[in-house]
Amino acid sequence: MKSFQVNLGDRSYSIDIKSGLIKEDSLLLAKYNHGQKWIIITQHNLMELFGYNFLKKLENNGFDVDFITIPKGEAAKSINEYSRIISQMIQYGCDRKTSIICLGGGVVGDVGGFVASSFMRGVDYFQIPTTLLAMVDSSIGGKTGINVSEGKNLVGAIYQPKRVIVDPNLLESLPKEEVNAGIGEIIKYGAIWNKEFLLQIRSWLMDINNFPFDNAIYTSCKIKAEIVSKDENEHGIRKILNFGHTIGHALESYLGYGKIRHGEAVAFGMKSSGYISGKLGSISKNDLLILINMIDNLPLPELPHINPNHLLPFIKNDKKTEKGKLNFVILDNLGNAKTTTKVDEDLIIESLKVLN
Ligand SMILES: NC(=O)c1ccc[n+]([C@@H]2O[C@H](COP(=O)([O-])OP(=O)(O)OC[C@H]3O[C@@H](n4cnc5c(N)ncnc54)[C@H](O)[C@@H]3O)[C@@H](O)[C@H]2O)c1
Ligand SMILES: [Zn+2]
Repeated sequence: MKSFQVNLGDRSYSIDIKSGLIKEDSLLLAKYNHGQKWIIITQHNLMELFGYNFLKKLENNGFDVDFITIPKGEAAKSINEYSRIISQMIQYGCDRKTSIICLGGGVVGDVGGFVASSFMRGVDYFQIPTTLLAMVDSSIGGKTGINVSEGKNLVGAIYQPKRVIVDPNLLESLPKEEVNAGIGEIIKYGAIWNKEFLLQIRSWLMDINNFPFDNAIYTSCKIKAEIVSKDENEHGIRKILNFGHTIGHALESYLGYGKIRHGEAVAFGMKSSGYISGKLGSISKNDLLILINMIDNLPLPELPHINPNHLLPFIKNDKKTEKGKLNFVILDNLGNAKTTTKVDEDLIIESLKVLN
């Protein structure tokens, strides 16, 4: 098993990665069981795939455990689902000692984590990510939240899990499109942090059917853990993890939830943001081409035609706006990134044209 720490003082926790982990070793959680009520937050299909087996294993080992499912899709990250989960937890007799397990992708992790952050002013929770995107990104770092009609993730908390348990075998049932979307976020780590890793991903993508997930997940988690350990609350370096996200989130809101996957939107967002980095002179033509070719070679669904002028208001609505100025992440050569407020509207509009 590969393990490493997210270092956050008394809120530090480990990320454990091993194929077969949840089948073999649900007892990774045994040391946290003190007779409290456990709640698995998940989705119906995931219960069928591996949730019931996992729950049985916990019960056989003396856990008092129930489960709550939420619907599939971004719409489940809502106030309604949030309050339904809270009511159900109260009915199940949960209290301040309760522990939550988020078994699922980013949707389950974001809602479940937000429930954990606020139920009885905060209870312990564990992340068992089941999508590639959740394994490399959303399960780590404690960002939790739900959407409101005005935009994505506008309500939430930074609240760290007690442990993240990653079993790459769970990806076996994950649809290809979801896997490819997750690779979008993996490319991001190479682009912003480690050029060597990026070039390695490029070579892996040439034979995508044999993509070495264990390796890619390990390096991605390590990068995310390192960045979060330096800047938990996103005052500085953590902002670069939003590379591709200002435009990506805008695409998600503009096209409508369910029309584009998060990782896909981020991949397209990285293409435009790469273009902007080139225009601002902070990446060479050759390096930009490497990034753009990688994204173009990723088998992503075709993007509907985008009207840049219609997308722009969604970009300006981004959480990263401070005092009306957009804090934009650009590349500082491949393998490094920085934020800038120098990206004006005309340049954004120009950069969106590369998407059509
Ligand atoms: N908190 C963070 O730091 C952070 C970071 C990135 C993304 N996010 C959020 O994550 C969400 C996207 O997450 P996602 O891409 O994991 O999508 P998702 O959670 O919607 O999962 C995608 C689909 O795959 C199914 N699925 C999950 N695991 C499966 C498996 N092993 N086998 C078969 N089917 C499986 C799910 O039921 C779902 O229908 C977005 O809401 C995004 O905003 C959060
Ligand atoms: Zn993301």
